[in-house]
Amino acid sequence: MGGERSEMITNIRDLIEHWTETNDLMRIQKEVDPVFELGAVVNHLKGRQPMIFEKVKGYDVPMVAGFGGDRERMADSMGIRAPEIVPRLIQSIVQPIATRSRSTGPVQENVILEPEELDDLFPVCQYHAEDSGTYYVSGVLVVKDLSGKKRYTSIRRMQYLGGNRTNILITSPELMDQYRQIEARGEPMEVAVMFGVIPAVVLSSQVSSHLYHTDKLDIAGALVGSPLDVVACQTVDLDVLAEAEVVFEGRMLPIEREMEGPFGELGHYYGGEAPQPVVEISAITYRNQPVWQTIFPSSHEEKLPMALVREATLLSTVRQVVPGVKDVHITLPAVARCHAIIQIEKRHEGDGKQALLAAFASDKDLKHAVVVNQDVDIWDPADVEWAIATRVQADRDVFIVSGANGSPLEASHNLRGLSAKMGLDATYPLQEAKAFRRTSIPGAENIDLSQYV
Ligand SMILES: Cc1cc2nc3c(=O)[nH]c(=O)nc-3n(C[C@H](O)[C@H](O)[C@H](O)COP(=O)(O)O)c2cc1C
Repeated sequence: MGGERSEMITNIRDLIEHWTETNDLMRIQKEVDPVFELGAVVNHLKGRQPMIFEKVKGYDVPMVAGFGGDRERMADSMGIRAPEIVPRLIQSIVQPIATRSRSTGPVQENVILEPEELDDLFPVCQYHAEDSGTYYVSGVLVVKDLSGKKRYTSIRRMQYLGGNRTNILITSPELMDQYRQIEARGEPMEVAVMFGVIPAVVLSSQVSSHLYHTDKLDIAGALVGSPLDVVACQTVDLDVLAEAEVVFEGRMLPIEREMEGPFGELGHYYGGEAPQPVVEISAITYRNQPVWQTIFPSSHEEKLPMALVREATLLSTVRQVVPGVKDVHITLPAVARCHAIIQIEKRHEGDGKQALLAAFASDKDLKHAVVVNQDVDIWDPADVEWAIATRVQADRDVFIVSGANGSPLEASHNLRGLSAKMGLDATYPLQEAKAFRRTSIPGAENIDLSQYV
């Protein structure tokens, strides 16, 4: 795994082949039920492990999961190493690589117009005990903005309603506002949903539209270092990836709503019920021998792309006020947004608190942030705990701001509608560096245990 490859991987088949060669792909040959059992297997390894289910009960198509749930493998899918992902993401937002339009592509090798039952060919899974039904949770949605010129991707779960219908949960105020404007004209909003895509496409879909306004498929091209091919859809005026495995084309209908939820959410609690817009699918296109895909809700695979885009924004924001910032970590268990660890080379006494202020400015969802010196491994929870235990004096190094905003995906915030912020400056005072030097053993880094046992 890891390192630059001469051949860029732009589709999931090549990734399956690559991870088969490197022994990273787990093949599940036992038949699994798409209702609960498949998800339980994926969740057993927290969605960190790339898996291919060869036999899903009632279906002939293989199904993959866990392809973007581990930093090292996510990086490997782009031909880089884990520490390079966030710098690569920042660079890709600034210098995207435009997609190439093709007249035809593999994703249209098979075309079903006006499908009657969406679940005839591809399984729809149920994940958590109290979920209101079966859901498409991993499809990358493509829409155009109101001017018809800009293209946006994102992931929005769709509950299967039977026949050719789903509903769709869109929490983005901007996209819902766009839909409502089209709805007010009595018109539907055209959508396409891509399944069976590489981790870079999932990652780029999480880049905030209102912050960057960049074409996210172009960002995905830059992430893998190669332009991605797109083809025009058959029944809607949108482009989709030519190398996606499956595409649903359709329309978000005006006026109609269907109840959605409860659903096991990102924070490992159930979200409530609410009426949501309805999508009518007008075509399904797919490659020969298609590979179907899911992302287990609340797994590492769902959280990692969210954390990475937040790390990119956090790093850029902190860097504006603390040039000595070295690395940042948004931890996954804290809903991939509530906790940040910031590593700095402290050059001025106030750098620690300044970095914390910048961190809270970078993302309203952040609740607790810790800043540490360069000698602390921010990827090792034990090392961070050690720094907090041995370098923080709570009366001096901790600040709390009450009554700020928080994340709608965080249960205690939702209860009150407000969130408190806590910053911990776990850096030591510059003039006392000598008292805070870590113990070390000469030659320890060269010890190879196999030479001793
Ligand atoms: C696996 C996965 C599932 C997601 N499901 C939803 C969803 O059901 N509804 C939603 O609004 N956002 C969902 N998101 C988050 C949005 O995709 C994300 O906020 C959005 O793409 C950000 O882009 P935007 O600024 O263009 O809205 C999901 C993200 C991931 C990675």
